[in-house]
Amino acid sequence: MIKPLIRVLQGERQTIPPIWLMRQAGRYLPEYRAIRRQADNFLDLCFSPKLATEVTLQPIRRFAFDAAILFSDILVIPYALGQHVSFEQGNGPRLDAINGASELRMLRREIDQVVLAPIYETIECVKKELPAGVALLGFCGAPWTLATYMVAGMGTPDQLPAREFSYRDPNGFAALIDILVAASAAYLIRQFEAGVDAVQIFDTWAGVLPPDEFDNYCIEPCARIVAEVRKQIPAAKIIGFPRGAGTRLKKYATAANVDAVGLDWMIDFAFARDEIQSRRPVQGNLDPLALMVGGKALDSAIDRILENFAAGPFIFNLGHGVLPDTPVAHVERLIARVRSSA
Ligand code: CP3
Repeated sequence: MIKPLIRVLQGERQTIPPIWLMRQAGRYLPEYRAIRRQADNFLDLCFSPKLATEVTLQPIRRFAFDAAILFSDILVIPYALGQHVSFEQGNGPRLDAINGASELRMLRREIDQVVLAPIYETIECVKKELPAGVALLGFCGAPWTLATYMVAGMGTPDQLPAREFSYRDPNGFAALIDILVAASAAYLIRQFEAGVDAVQIFDTWAGVLPPDEFDNYCIEPCARIVAEVRKQIPAAKIIGFPRGAGTRLKKYATAANVDAVGLDWMIDFAFARDEIQSRRPVQGNLDPLALMVGGKALDSAIDRILENFAAGPFIFNLGHGVLPDTPVAHVERLIARVRSSA
């Protein structure tokens, strides 16, 4: 049996769109917060197959989503390249900043697969417990988005350190992107070998790039990862999510070579339907804030999305991750409304 979400990735419309949510496992769930307290360090949770399996399955048990997403983080890749990474309570991630090309020496040329082995083990454990019909998604961060954290050493509002590095030293910056392309492809291949049905490439900060840089640091690296992965896994299904890309999504939709395009909540509906969904299945794009607020704002936002995308190949999702203050009841309401929409 082909899972409904995979059918959509093959270009087939489903009468009721499959639904999952970015950050569906996380702090808005009381059962996640209970497990989170058992690990002092967030990365310990990501690298514990037992706890990560449990957390991956929590939203499936509670909401019966159409996909589980592996519980981990995009920053395990810099960590597996030897960069120091930690998560400070309330402050987000901290890394040893890479201040220029000479400091690329602090990185390994290839990811340490021994460090990542517990993640592949989590995939195998989740696979055994997942209900039939529920897809298992793996993921990685896109090279540009990873670079923004690796260069700044933290999350930034404007991604300025990475942008500045790329202007001052394009060759040095391209060397960092090359390391991340190879690392991401190797990582995704191992995720497929361990049993994921599809993967998503998160390019959270794609939107800040000017057009030429968007081509060079978002589209092109993504296309290289896709090509590398498909060399090993010809049937690999890959969702690309270049957040904030706007009209540049049109080029991304074909040139990045992904099977489906994740939409953020800012995109124009007619553009996304006529220019993107006509080329590739789409996924998205409820404003996470509407989900947090609930009520009429939520219902009308859901209906608008269904009116625009449900006639074609479509996966219902948010336009970015679930916000920690989101009431569980709003997620239940969302799922009920989508599933009674046909
Ligand atoms: O979607 C899922 O449920 C799967 C798990 C997942 C996490 N992070 C868990 C997480 C996924 C797919 C990610 C991706 C991720 N991580 C991205 C790309 C998507 C996006 O949200 O933009 C980025 C940029 C990161 C980096 C990251 N991880 C930041 C900036 C932070 C701190 C901010 C925050 O929300 O706390 C994290 C931590 C993180 N990753 C948490 C979770 C559940 C919260 C940590 C905690 O529980 O203490």
